[in-house]
Amino acid sequence: MAAADFLVTLAIFLALSSSFCYAYDVDPLQDFCVAVADNLTAVFVNGKICKNPKQVTPDDFLASGFNIPGNTNNSLGFATNMADANRIPGLNTLGLTVLRVDFAPNGVVPPHTHPRSTEIIVLLEGTLYAGFVTSNPRDNTKNRLFAKILKPGDVFVFPIGLVHFLRNVGNTKAMGIVAFNSQNPGVITIANSVFGTEPLISPEVLTKSFQLDKKVIDYLQSRF
Ligand SMILES: *[C@@H]1O[C@H](CO)[C@@H](O)[C@H](O)[C@H]1NC(C)=O
Ligand SMILES: *[C@@H]1O[C@H](CO)[C@@H](O)[C@H](O)[C@H]1NC(C)=O
Repeated sequence: MAAADFLVTLAIFLALSSSFCYAYDVDPLQDFCVAVADNLTAVFVNGKICKNPKQVTPDDFLASGFNIPGNTNNSLGFATNMADANRIPGLNTLGLTVLRVDFAPNGVVPPHTHPRSTEIIVLLEGTLYAGFVTSNPRDNTKNRLFAKILKPGDVFVFPIGLVHFLRNVGNTKAMGIVAFNSQNPGVITIANSVFGTEPLISPEVLTKSFQLDKKVIDYLQSRF
């Protein structure tokens, strides 16, 4: 192939491939693939294996109780009620999770990421300070924070993989509905994954990484 032909082919390929739109999760190849409970499977696949469709019932697509506020009486002051593929087996392979989140006044969802999903929140009650941080810039500038004060009716997006947080800054409780474009978004809470591992990360790694005294690291490791 001549170089010019190759470039034209490449340009067409790039144009076509960028016009395809893939969800993060694997697309279903049948009407549904209602998940078998993990404890009943002997092999693990990417996602969950399907129930015999003849044994599938309407309840496989249902979860209830999302009208009931979660109990936010805990150290962080928030509660989630999540409908993912573990809770609604019929969500398996459909690339979707939804949850209700409740906040006590001053409640915080600490900095965390979802390795497999973008997140979008619809705030229905209260006032939240919500933000996410970009990945490390290439030019040695600081990671940028994108944050907003959310009011009822506001919708805010946390792009896939980025560290983000939420805090109730109102004097009342807050409540929102959150959606993810994965049946299993996953959560990595930054503090726990650094200071609360089992076994602990060697303090030499953390003292140098965070430029902190070993006493501070020991304290942080005792807290998570
Ligand atoms: C498997 O887990 C489900 C909940 O996911 C539970 O209802 C069921 O009793 C468990 N079955 C066995 C055999 O442990
Ligand atoms: C919150 O939890 C604490 C400790 O678990 C308990 O002592 C307290 O009564 C609870 N408060 C409410 C309002 O439920």
